[in-house]
Amino acid sequence: MGFLELIKEARKAKGSPLVLALDLRPDKPSKLMRKARSILEAVAPHACALKLNFHLILPLGLSGVKPLLDRAHDQGMACIADVKLGDIGHTNEVAARYFFEAGFDALTVNPLAGWEGGLKPLFELAHGLGKGIIILAYMSHPGASETFGLRTLGPDGREIPLYKFFVRKAIDWGADGLVVGATRPEVIREVREVVGPDMALFSPGVGVQGGRAKDALEAGADFIIVGRSITEAEDPAGAAEAILKSISA
Ligand code: XMP
Repeated sequence: MGFLELIKEARKAKGSPLVLALDLRPDKPSKLMRKARSILEAVAPHACALKLNFHLILPLGLSGVKPLLDRAHDQGMACIADVKLGDIGHTNEVAARYFFEAGFDALTVNPLAGWEGGLKPLFELAHGLGKGIIILAYMSHPGASETFGLRTLGPDGREIPLYKFFVRKAIDWGADGLVVGATRPEVIREVREVVGPDMALFSPGVGVQGGRAKDALEAGADFIIVGRSITEAEDPAGAAEAILKSISA
């Protein structure tokens, strides 16, 4: 089963668009592992996917996070490495191979590297293996407007915001998903209109960054990504449940 099918099936089976960003503050590897396992066990029934980034991949290494990925898969979740790859093609391909071999089903990718000699080998590798590529379209933090919101000239010479240019490229490249911050529901709405129903839209920035899950989903997001509001809660499962409740309220 390819990445999109996997995560859509998981969303249906769990009745949840929640992607758990298992971000933990720095600690000893043994303590990180214990905490990560405990949060994953608690939140797995409420989440369709697990997203890891440098918070755990750096201190634990890829072999260290593999048991978490295996457990998440056993719990019916898809696994995303949020590493925003964007180097030259050879480096992208080598890095992606390691992430996929460790068990990740998809990677986040920065579109700036462009296609030839940049992202092309990465897409070819990923799609050859049935893995997914999720492109950054518009990040969730305030400073994203300085870059993603920048006005530039499109291929036809007309002015276009950079994020729309990235969205068009992502469609041409055959990306599986896009990241658009939950802090900008109006951008989610615009992007959804451009990409149509099949592209998966992932929205981080819910809770601590000020975005609301319900607003993002109503604007057209398929998945919400939540980290600290769950990982730093006294009761992570309760926090996840509260987010899901807020969606249906
Ligand atoms: P919080 O704690 O803010 O964590 O709920 C959000 C998680 O998502 C990541 N993040 C992003 N990832 N584009 C991304 O690809 C974004 O715009 C973005 N904003 C946040 C962040 O690293 C954390 O894991």
